[in-house]
Amino acid sequence: MLKILANDGMDKAAIAKLTAAGHQVIDQYYEGEALAEQLRAVDVVVIRSKTKIRQPLIDRVAGGQLKLIIRAGVGIDNIDHVYAEEKGIAVRNTPNSSSASVAELAIGQMFALARHIYIANVTMRNGQWNKKAYKGSELNGKVLGLIGFGRIARETAKRALALGMSVVYYKRSGALPNETQCQYLPFEELLATADYISLHIPFDKQKGATIGDAQFAQMKDGVFLVNCARGGVVDEVALLRALDSGKVAAAAVDVFAEEPTQNQALYQHDRVSLTPHIGASTVEAQRRIGDETISVIEQFFG
Ligand code: MLT
Repeated sequence: MLKILANDGMDKAAIAKLTAAGHQVIDQYYEGEALAEQLRAVDVVVIRSKTKIRQPLIDRVAGGQLKLIIRAGVGIDNIDHVYAEEKGIAVRNTPNSSSASVAELAIGQMFALARHIYIANVTMRNGQWNKKAYKGSELNGKVLGLIGFGRIARETAKRALALGMSVVYYKRSGALPNETQCQYLPFEELLATADYISLHIPFDKQKGATIGDAQFAQMKDGVFLVNCARGGVVDEVALLRALDSGKVAAAAVDVFAEEPTQNQALYQHDRVSLTPHIGASTVEAQRRIGDETISVIEQFFG
């Protein structure tokens, strides 16, 4: 019998399956000392993006019962994973489950930007009828540039192609040999070519933002930017500058340098479409993540 702490919640069906298999699942949020105490007493902790597991916390729980940290999602930047592994605590994620959901959000945000849907909602609720102000444009015929070309980006590409967009991509390791529908471009070339740019890369603390002033300067005037990847990969101050100068026509931001974001200038900007880190927040993704979490536990404890 394993003791499993689901600190950021977990799909109810997965909890039921784990319980039926004889495990104890604690479905509750802890922080600070209470979290450290729980982590010393459980075998597995499952987290999403809210819970951060950093070195000081790892130091406090190392040597206790905790053997496995599962990030129920793709990004593991909220865990000091190398340090945890050094201390004998394994770290796993569930990279196979949320691609379609995140891709759909990225595409949804592109529609929201192209047709002013996000801001029309706001102004209509304030009693305005701004029909003339909201002349939009089609996605059909536009070039989508994907930075990163992993699972989520490829799902986004499939949908964009079906909408009549052409898709170019940049991947650090270079072109994919079997990719025939999307064209690989070097990073700078992609920046200069795309009408829409969507990011699909992890945040690298060492490297900092991938998109800052210099990269915005290389983009087309009136480019649309979508970040459903990670806060920090786009420099928020540079993004505001690019919005105000008109370089960026509009941006969609699901992930922020700090969450919940305190960046008022960003979240009050009338050409920014906002969502609170909900890329993987669908019934389907959470169900699959729940099942993948169970597989991770089964494989680990074999
Ligand atoms: C992910 O990395 O997959 C997302 O951040 C998932 C989440 O919202 O927990």
